[in-house]
Amino acid sequence: MNFTTKYRLIWLLIVFPMSMFFSCDNEQNSKAKLISTKYRTDLTHSYSNTDQIKTKHLHLDLKVDFDNKSISGVARHKMLNLGSDTAIFDIKNLDIQKVTVGEKDNESVVDFNIGVSDDLLGAPLYVFIDKNETNINIYYNTTKNSDAIDWLPKNLTAGKEFPFMYTQGEALLTRSWIPVQDLPSNRITYSAEVSVPKHLLVLMSASNPQEMNSDGIYTFEMKQAIPSYLIALAVGNITYHKLGENCGVYAEPELIEACAYEFVDLPKMMIAAEKIYGKYQWDIYDVLVLPYSFPFGGMENPRLTFVSPTLIAGDRSLVSVIAHELAHSWSGNLVTNSTWEDFWLNEGFTVYFENRIMEEIYGKESADILAYIEFQELENELKVIGNGDFPEDTHLKLNLKGRDPDMGMTSIAYVKGAFFLKTLENHVGRVLFDDFMTSYFKKYSFKTVSTEMFKEYLESELLLPNKLTFNTDEWLYKGGLPSNCLRLDPPRFKKVKLLAKDISTGKLVLDDSYQLDQFLTQEWLVFIRNLSSNIDVEKLRNIDDVLNFKSCGNSEIMTEWYILGVKNGYQEIKPDLKKFLMKVGRRKYLEPIYSELTKKKEDLVWAKEVFTKAKNNYHFVSNKTVEGLLYGGNE
Ligand code: BES
Ligand code: ZN
Repeated sequence: MNFTTKYRLIWLLIVFPMSMFFSCDNEQNSKAKLISTKYRTDLTHSYSNTDQIKTKHLHLDLKVDFDNKSISGVARHKMLNLGSDTAIFDIKNLDIQKVTVGEKDNESVVDFNIGVSDDLLGAPLYVFIDKNETNINIYYNTTKNSDAIDWLPKNLTAGKEFPFMYTQGEALLTRSWIPVQDLPSNRITYSAEVSVPKHLLVLMSASNPQEMNSDGIYTFEMKQAIPSYLIALAVGNITYHKLGENCGVYAEPELIEACAYEFVDLPKMMIAAEKIYGKYQWDIYDVLVLPYSFPFGGMENPRLTFVSPTLIAGDRSLVSVIAHELAHSWSGNLVTNSTWEDFWLNEGFTVYFENRIMEEIYGKESADILAYIEFQELENELKVIGNGDFPEDTHLKLNLKGRDPDMGMTSIAYVKGAFFLKTLENHVGRVLFDDFMTSYFKKYSFKTVSTEMFKEYLESELLLPNKLTFNTDEWLYKGGLPSNCLRLDPPRFKKVKLLAKDISTGKLVLDDSYQLDQFLTQEWLVFIRNLSSNIDVEKLRNIDDVLNFKSCGNSEIMTEWYILGVKNGYQEIKPDLKKFLMKVGRRKYLEPIYSELTKKKEDLVWAKEVFTKAKNNYHFVSNKTVEGLLYGGNE
């Protein structure tokens, strides 16, 4: 059932009977009316009524209980109330125990009501208050179905001695671990006191401790206002390694040295980013390396980016993900998309800025190599989406009414978005473009922006004053790729393209003179992509004999290799592929691999078997995607 249908059902089942029930009671009647008119989920993916009453500051008093896999405590909301007698929050699979109003220790219990829960959005929590009330305290426990939280047993950590847990909020999951008004357009400051078992460290997207203390109670403060999807928590046996004046890396002790080696250029990245688009606004920038189940390459939680350990390739070849998450400190965290339909404003800007940071440090050739790889992915995805059920998803401005914002997490937002800005930069010149971007980040600091606001700002601040024109509407509101899109063809890839051709046609067989380190990771990716898509197994075997792609340890290369292998019935990769699928929970890898495995019956059987064992090692986000692929979302 989609959620428009559900919305109608909710009205029929809950709101309508409630308004009948309350019709004899004037005061209650006005509450019921408010509920029935205040569903705005179509636009915001949230039930909350932030136009009437909204959180300004949130204080969390939490206890993390690994034995029961539950967080329990109080979410204390300080609200700005424009005179509303009902506050609506978003909750999903939370056990709400009681709600009070008033300052801590001087609280009185108030009535609350929970609407019908939707699979995607969760449920509205209605809290009935006085019209001048500004303090609402929600006492709650998370449940086994609190999808944001990943509880990892010891054996899924690097050290295998302590359990680990972390949360993932974007896009709609914060409501499954905190009762909040969960929409990107409301910014709040937050503080927290979190109690955890001794011998574990807690970190949040806030001011953080650098070492463990003896009582297991930690306090946090996020002074800058952020949207709710950026509130994050992680607990584990974690240590810190300083990398620069205001940056460093957190990881389990077993990994910390390798992480410090991999991310050594972080201070340079910060200098480069500030040089390009102005001062870093969050004081500290740290990176936390999570266990393998983490579903993303990185997540830009402010002050504390979360990353996958798959970035630790040993040769610093995947650090552009760090540049990406750092870039979000401007695009996304400082200037935030106002709805998930404007997601490209977060991700497209960030991919563009990430590439500028890479160019600043490693030079234009390196930056072009990275952008070219992404562009190939965009071209593929444009074809797939263009021929799919939602061809309008190739527009930058999305229509996500009644749909999961996850549907917008495609190369369109990321790479078409970035190439829109690249093309625009090329058209107006870097000097004008950078002045414009700097002023955009300044003007909208700590605010949210819609595609329409951006378009207007672009028109009035960059194009008009310089008497320039640009096909902005075509880029934002039309499908496919406009013909003026900037194209790259880095000469560096010529060699590997030729090599791939010679192997595919049988002109060349690799011998020991070829080695993995003779080309960059990105060159090998292009090499694999340029091998014939129906290549004989014998040739694949020869490549593995010499280069050992199937267990080379570089997750980007391995993923690309497994996909080609599965496509061509190269059965010998299965043991290594199984090992990979059992270990890595990063969705970007799982999705194309499992997707390829659904194409042949025997592969699908095998994939289901592996997934049954592997799913405990994945976060909810990845499980949902893989389940959809293997069982069509029916399992
Ligand atoms: N913010 C995203 C991750 C995300 C998007 C989580 C939407 C939930 C919903 C993050 O910044 C990201 O884009 N990660 C990418 C890495 C990047 C280099 C493209 C990833 O995880 O692959
Ligand atoms: Zn991103």
